[in-house]
Amino acid sequence: MTDFNSILADRIINMAESATLAMARKAREMKAEGIDIISLSIGEPDFKTPKHIQEAAKAAIDEGKYFGYPPVPGYMDLREGIAEKLRTENGIKSKAENIVVSTGAKQSIANVIISISNPGDEIVIITPYWVSYRDVALFAGAKPVFAVGTIENDFKVTAQDLDAVITDKTKAILFSSPSNPTGSVFTKDEIAGIVKVMEKHPNVLIISDEIYEHINFSGGHVSIGSFPEVEDRTITVNGFSKGFAMTGWRIGYISAPVAIAKACEKVQGQITSGANSIAQRAALAALKADLGPTRDMTAEYLRRRDLVLGLLDEIPGMKTYVPSGAFYIFPDISNFFGKSNGTMTINNANDMSLYILNEAKVSVVTGDAFGAPDCIRISYAASDKELKEAMKRIKEVLAKLS
Ligand SMILES: Cc1ncc(COP(=O)(O)O)c(C=O)c1O
Repeated sequence: MTDFNSILADRIINMAESATLAMARKAREMKAEGIDIISLSIGEPDFKTPKHIQEAAKAAIDEGKYFGYPPVPGYMDLREGIAEKLRTENGIKSKAENIVVSTGAKQSIANVIISISNPGDEIVIITPYWVSYRDVALFAGAKPVFAVGTIENDFKVTAQDLDAVITDKTKAILFSSPSNPTGSVFTKDEIAGIVKVMEKHPNVLIISDEIYEHINFSGGHVSIGSFPEVEDRTITVNGFSKGFAMTGWRIGYISAPVAIAKACEKVQGQITSGANSIAQRAALAALKADLGPTRDMTAEYLRRRDLVLGLLDEIPGMKTYVPSGAFYIFPDISNFFGKSNGTMTINNANDMSLYILNEAKVSVVTGDAFGAPDCIRISYAASDKELKEAMKRIKEVLAKLS
């Protein structure tokens, strides 16, 4: 057998590669060729995991008790700690039995979608969306349906937009605030508006991805699962990657109604088992310590947001808004569509991200990957020096388009 591509399953052939990871790979390859690439494409803090969390992992190894398979839904003390955090910080009525710890929030989201989707079910995705939502829904056999926010409203979908796409086939809505790719944060009133719509649809689940909870410049995080009207059917997803600079440790979790938590445990038990034991001990230390390092990192992201926004606003044709969280900005670049530098014409956001990569040697991600074909995503989880140089290069190459 020589053509191995022909034996792949349709569901894999039809699955898009993660655009953010693909762009990061391309940037790495160019860097390895000696090209001076500035990578603003990956959603990863550029800080080190705080020292006390590193020390907890070392202590867990030295204790010698954590070398075997951990329980599939996570160590009980970690599940209890997460449930307590959700009760005290988020106002969510959670107990250990509601918690499943997974290999990153990415796995948590996949577990949930796989657990609830039958063929024909619709999953409403608040758009612009994080890259994996759409493809995981398709992989699970569900139909993704999009409720689309516009830049005029900081990309936030209104309650009416949401109401318009919910049908009797809707199984769940997938919601995230602060959002990746837009950094937008829904206010308490805006979330209350969504809750009102959901009250009209009592059989529809809410999946709330709160992975950027701590990177919020708007003065406080609001969990939709704290609203009594929907608390019994909200699945809250969170993890340690972003707020604690722990992307490589791979620990995420859900708090879900017990039946859904059990289903996720079943899926995970067949596919990966419990998440890495030492990383779970480190996550428990992250939960128990104060949030000083997390707050310092957030203050730094806010400073960089203002730096990048100021520089982007100096670029003629770039349309921006003010993101209130995460570490991304998602400018609308459609003013450049139809323009050319003489050799390449920019017809869409894919062209733009390739143009910026090839000409400015800066990697950003096409908005297509997030359901927003007029935009590009720029991560500002990078040093001031890199950010200033990247914005200068982007400004220069965009000035060549006419
Ligand atoms: C919105 C959103 N959800 C989930 C994840 C997955 O995070 P984790 O590293 O915990 O798998 C990411 C990571 O980029 C994200 O941006």
